[in-house]
Amino acid sequence: MPPRMTALHIRSLKGRERIPVVTCYDYCMARLAEAAGIPLLLVGDSLGNVILGYETTVRVRMREMIHHANAVMRARPRALVVVDMPFLSFQVSPGRAVHAAGSIVQETGADAVKLEGAGRNLEAVRRMVEAGIPVMGHLGLTPQSVLQLGGFPVQGRGAAGEALLQDARALQEAGCFSLVLEKIPAPLGQRVTSALEIPTIGIGAGSGCDGQVLVLNDLLGLDPDFNPRFVKRYAELGSTVVEALERYSREVRSGTFPASEHEFPDAAPDSAGGGNS
Ligand code: KIV
Repeated sequence: MPPRMTALHIRSLKGRERIPVVTCYDYCMARLAEAAGIPLLLVGDSLGNVILGYETTVRVRMREMIHHANAVMRARPRALVVVDMPFLSFQVSPGRAVHAAGSIVQETGADAVKLEGAGRNLEAVRRMVEAGIPVMGHLGLTPQSVLQLGGFPVQGRGAAGEALLQDARALQEAGCFSLVLEKIPAPLGQRVTSALEIPTIGIGAGSGCDGQVLVLNDLLGLDPDFNPRFVKRYAELGSTVVEALERYSREVRSGTFPASEHEFPDAAPDSAGGGNS
């Protein structure tokens, strides 16, 4: 059995291998991502949108992140598991941020945390790293700032690109082992990637990044109505699920399910199949 991934290992992939990352929110999907050999699973606060049905990630609470991170960890993935720090868990003070990050790794067994932004968060990043908690940064579009941004616009255009590059350098300096770049122009993604020694993981940041991350539900096509420019759908599971449920519903209504092979005979020992009940 190969060893589990570490933050140091992910960091060492820079310049050697591109890094595929997906978000993951539960046991079932963590097992499937593991079977596919994905090296890094992000328990993103995007779970607020795609799992819990909130309009923004601002609504996501620490208890929800911990609940889902625990479900992912129960799959015992070999992948590095990074958990998003929810809104307000790290902005108030560096001390509270270290406590929040500590409770994530202590209560879930996850390997690292991710937080959005630089600036006032740099001290928190330094203190978490000093405390032994690997930290992934996140720049560009930071969805927890949606109320201030008034939406989800492309970031880092024009002069703002220079400031983003400075922030990226500062996060590396503060000790981040990798950096998510979200929704920025591709040339800026390439520029930040070349300037840093830590891997960049892009989402809508172009092919010049060291790795890519997609929200699992988006890449699996679970929501046929969500089709932003930066997403590629590798399956159409939304329509597959609806078709399967329609067939099931038709067969129950018509009496063709269950058929005799799904029924238990009266006297014979039950030797067939496992199942959950
Ligand atoms: O919450 C999330 O899923 C993320 C990724 C989109 C990077 O932060």
